[in-house]
Amino acid sequence: MEHAFWHARWQEGRIGFHQADINLWLRQYWSRLGVSGDARVLVPLCGKSSDMLWLREQGHPVVGVELSDLACRDFFVEHGTQVTPVAVPEGHTRERDGITLWCADFLELGAEHWGEVAAVYDRAALIALPPPMRRSYAAHLRRQLSSGVEMLLVTLEFPGGEGPPFSVTEAEVRQLFEPGFTVVRLDQAEVENERREVVYHLTRQ
Ligand SMILES: C[S@@+](CC[C@H](N)C(=O)[O-])C[C@H]1O[C@@H](n2cnc3c(N)ncnc32)[C@H](O)[C@@H]1O
Repeated sequence: MEHAFWHARWQEGRIGFHQADINLWLRQYWSRLGVSGDARVLVPLCGKSSDMLWLREQGHPVVGVELSDLACRDFFVEHGTQVTPVAVPEGHTRERDGITLWCADFLELGAEHWGEVAAVYDRAALIALPPPMRRSYAAHLRRQLSSGVEMLLVTLEFPGGEGPPFSVTEAEVRQLFEPGFTVVRLDQAEVENERREVVYHLTRQ
């Protein structure tokens, strides 16, 4: 997906993917990952997800990466604080109370930017990307994450249709991440329009 596509979505307020409530899979399965409370969590393609606040409330320092400056700004404004962006060569950052948002292209950042992370939370990140970018995204995570990093991944499966969101099957998840990660399918639920949400626990080997 071109950057312009996402910038237009945010400018026009076409952000049907945004959930006001905390993701139920996150609440249900986060503890299963066994990540210690003070360990840093990476949230790629984070939008302005309130799930980052929930992760912070569990004790985790959180690093989100998002292309849209509007999303980064609104995340803090909607949670009651205005944060001045700091320019960096890759884009800019905003930080407050243990949550750092990088406004940048996720594929252009690495561990040297987000620091040592113990876990990754992907809800609507992998499935936002077309097939070639999904391969780049998975390869990037494989390169950048250290052994032992845990990941909660939430995907969607549905017949046909043009994305985003894209349908990503279990076979594709395994093709993208194995070898390099162990992949355990944790759960699934039917949602609207013949769509099924599927949640996975990945561990970087
Ligand atoms: C479907 S939304 C999901 C946002 C968030 N994960 C959530 O659950 O609400 C995908 C987000 O990824 C952002 N995005 C797309 N490509 C990106 C990239 N290469 N680097 C960083 N963010 C990107 C978009 O601007 C959009 O906010």
